[in-house]
Amino acid sequence: MTEVAKLILDGKELELPVITGTEGEKAIDIRSLRQQTGHITFDPGFGNTGTCRSAITYMDGEQGILRYRGYPIEQLAEHSTFVETAFLLITGQLPNRDELIRTSVDLNDFSTLHENMKAFYQNYPPKAHPMGILSAMVNAMRSFYPELQDDVEEEMNKTYLRLISKIRTMAAMAYRITKGERVVYPRPDLCYCANFLNMMFDSAVVPYYMDDDLVRALNVFWILHADHEQNCSTTAVRVVGSGKVNIYSAISAGISALWGPLHGGANQAVISMLERIHRDGLTIDECVAKAKDRKDPFRLMGFGHRVYKTYDPRAKIMKKMCDIVLSKVSQADPLLDIARRLEEMALSDPYFIEKDLYPNVDFYSGIVLRAMGIPTNMFTVMFAIGRLPGWISQWKEDWSDPEMKISRPRQIYSGALVRDYVPMSEREPAN
Ligand code: CMC
Repeated sequence: MTEVAKLILDGKELELPVITGTEGEKAIDIRSLRQQTGHITFDPGFGNTGTCRSAITYMDGEQGILRYRGYPIEQLAEHSTFVETAFLLITGQLPNRDELIRTSVDLNDFSTLHENMKAFYQNYPPKAHPMGILSAMVNAMRSFYPELQDDVEEEMNKTYLRLISKIRTMAAMAYRITKGERVVYPRPDLCYCANFLNMMFDSAVVPYYMDDDLVRALNVFWILHADHEQNCSTTAVRVVGSGKVNIYSAISAGISALWGPLHGGANQAVISMLERIHRDGLTIDECVAKAKDRKDPFRLMGFGHRVYKTYDPRAKIMKKMCDIVLSKVSQADPLLDIARRLEEMALSDPYFIEKDLYPNVDFYSGIVLRAMGIPTNMFTVMFAIGRLPGWISQWKEDWSDPEMKISRPRQIYSGALVRDYVPMSEREPAN
């Protein structure tokens, strides 16, 4: 028997179907609510709103669980590579050996950029933020690679790999050009992550030394960021994509959404916060007091999450990665020390305990990236490269879901009631 929820409104009883997911989570299907009652639901920030059925990522915020296509994040971080995880997210299955080789060959074939795209970089002001550049470049890909046909699966599979391959080249190129350095092209003998590090840091005078542990750390960093169900940027991709715009434009919208400091920009904001504490000599007590003060806009960046009400499982893995990477680069980082003390203090403070505020993935990821030599303004770009397979799989799922419609929420109007236009001569002068 189908489970229903009963709603009593204006003295009338209404039955609404209950939808149950494979992990037992439940939703009240309110699609007929407005038609039957004239009411809509009100949920700013969508904290209680399911916008789709999705078979990609499962999260349990209370228990700190994260799985891609059923596989626990801890197992993927330990055994998988970023390319394999991207394949898993997009196709739903782990690749066999031949599929993985074919994917690597395609990623290599697609790794260079149209030479004319370089002109874009050269004309950006030197201080332009790389996220703004990346978002514009991904949107521009539609013009440079226009041949895609959204309804031909084979072509779309190539488009997904083209995006995954080129985003890494675009990111590294943005860095080199803004530094005034020669562009390093991708090499066919290097894997996805090693290639990125080489494109970023190789130099004619000091060849980049490839450290397997750093390559592994980058794989893990990107695996941890690869998807996170219906977060702000993924929702942006789905909402923009629901108008049936091409995939490049939908992904470009996702990159813009990710840029914000409350979302992907938090990894950069964490480092800025730690640097400020270090520079200004603030004590940990002072920081925690500022974060708790409701009149002070200061928040402890890298703490809190809309869904996780316990330790973010990605943060646990990132914390371990942090120790490995720091031992490799053999540099003591005073910011790490501040981060550790902040974490300890916040985890035992009643304000943070009562509000379920735990470290999220960004708390440690900034330190890992910094130790790898990635400049702070590239941190959110690193997040974007990692999140791309998730955006692609969510866009693909949305595109082929017969239940999906163009996104068009409603509102509760709270403005002026109808009034007549007032001619200029009759208006009150400004004070
Ligand atoms: N420091 C101090 N207080 C906080 C913090 C924080 N980092 N986060 C939330 N709070 C307080 C907030 O002031 C509010 O207090 P009150 O109930 O007294 O009004 C309460 O906790 C609930 O916060 P909220 O803003 O209503 O929660 P939200 O679910 O809307 O926001 C968040 C989630 C991640 C935007 C927020 O926790 C935050 O701003 N954190 C810092 C930024 C950050 O680290 N973002 C990265 C998120 S993880 C990466 C990703 O997946 O995007």
